[in-house]
Amino acid sequence: MQQVLDFLRNRQQTSVDELCEFLRIPSISADSAYSDSMQSCAAWVRNSMEAAGLRATIYPTDGHPIVYGELLRDPSLPTVLIYGHYDVQPPDPLELWTTPAFEPTERDGRLYARGATDDKGQLFTHLKSIEAWTQTHGELPVNIKFLIEGEEECGGIHLDAFLEQHQEMLRADVAVVSDTSQYGDGIPAITCGLRGIVAAEVRLRGPDHDLHSGIYGGSIANPLNALTAMCGALIDSAGRIQIPGFYEDVIDLTDEERQGYSELPFSVEGFLADTGSADIFGEEGWSTLERRTARPTCDINGISGGYAGEGPKTIVPSRAMAKITCRLVPDMKPEKILDSLEEFLRSRCPAGIQFEFHRYHGCEAFVFDPTSEWLNAARRAVAAAFGQEPVLFREGGSIPVVLSFKQILGVDTLLLGWGRNSDNLHSPNEHIHLQDFHRGTLASACLWQELASVSLAD
Ligand code: BES
Ligand code: MN
Ligand code: MN
Repeated sequence: MQQVLDFLRNRQQTSVDELCEFLRIPSISADSAYSDSMQSCAAWVRNSMEAAGLRATIYPTDGHPIVYGELLRDPSLPTVLIYGHYDVQPPDPLELWTTPAFEPTERDGRLYARGATDDKGQLFTHLKSIEAWTQTHGELPVNIKFLIEGEEECGGIHLDAFLEQHQEMLRADVAVVSDTSQYGDGIPAITCGLRGIVAAEVRLRGPDHDLHSGIYGGSIANPLNALTAMCGALIDSAGRIQIPGFYEDVIDLTDEERQGYSELPFSVEGFLADTGSADIFGEEGWSTLERRTARPTCDINGISGGYAGEGPKTIVPSRAMAKITCRLVPDMKPEKILDSLEEFLRSRCPAGIQFEFHRYHGCEAFVFDPTSEWLNAARRAVAAAFGQEPVLFREGGSIPVVLSFKQILGVDTLLLGWGRNSDNLHSPNEHIHLQDFHRGTLASACLWQELASVSLAD
């Protein structure tokens, strides 16, 4: 083990240089203008898997390619399926980046670039630790299967079909995903739950062209007035979501879980500093940590229509549109939530306005069995690398593949994030602390050793 760790410590700069190469590829999955970059990024990942000692293949899909690599040693050893995504969020708004999104730059011990933490920097720790093992020992203590996709950030639909088609190839005892965060700066976490999500778009059409609001205003329904009224009805002033049946299937935190939450270190000031917000907000009766990880939400992500340029413009706009997401907790059902959301909005649509409701791909929430031996093994590996016991904690974000692994492959996922929630994920100036990246490679290297000791009967 010491040899592996020394190997990683001696090659820190090389690892960072390679990560910079990875980060220079603008693999923006949502924007079709970047499909060539998606191809070259997949090729880069394949080459890097091969350099680490895996046998790797690119699987084209009708969307972006999937890269798969494996290093199988002995069927009697545990088989670990690692997952990551090489695609990134669009970097917009570009003008808010201090240095360009695809020109990785080191400042104050952080590496700034789109994808630095979500997820290129985090997934790369596993490639580096595998390489360290193969270079020092010629093999790993477990069987490795490594799946890296390119459609995580764009709600891609091709991964599930791939899992269905390659169940035998992907068979594993446990999955590992590094696409979450530490609990706090230097306090590692094992994420034992994730929220699910549903996403929808409402489109309203009123008159077939914008109308003069002096001539027609007040006599024809205004789609933007209608949209803001229906959206405004979604949440009351106590932060409770008003969609009928919304909370029906919610499993509340147990008293024990709430006790655990209340014992975690948390500073409102730090939280406000991270968000740049002036105050906290949320559903009455729940703490901030509970609100952001264990309570369901309803958020309007964007709204458009009419005129929003300089100066006034007196119109009744022809169209209006809103994008809405709800975060789900156990045991909420995505389809049921979408049905009730649609009905809630549709029933508030005035006469004369055409209502359209578009559904995107969603997923249920996930919780990991806290008594699992895999989890204990992960805990030892993370504690060794961070010099501190990890906190067992749920996160508020969603990683749909975790549900697919459970439902299609029957495997549970260890969520081991090395980054921080304050790394500006999905936002300008995304970064990773180099210290987190390096600790991540060490924790990953220890993980294979610890997982090897789990008896497969469990
Ligand atoms: N890595 C994130 C999810 C995440 C980040 C979970 C931090 C916990 C802590 C992932 O890439 C992501 O952005 N997921 C989307 C999923 C959605 C597009 C279906 C999300 O949560 O919005
Ligand atoms: Mn991610
Ligand atoms: Mn993301």
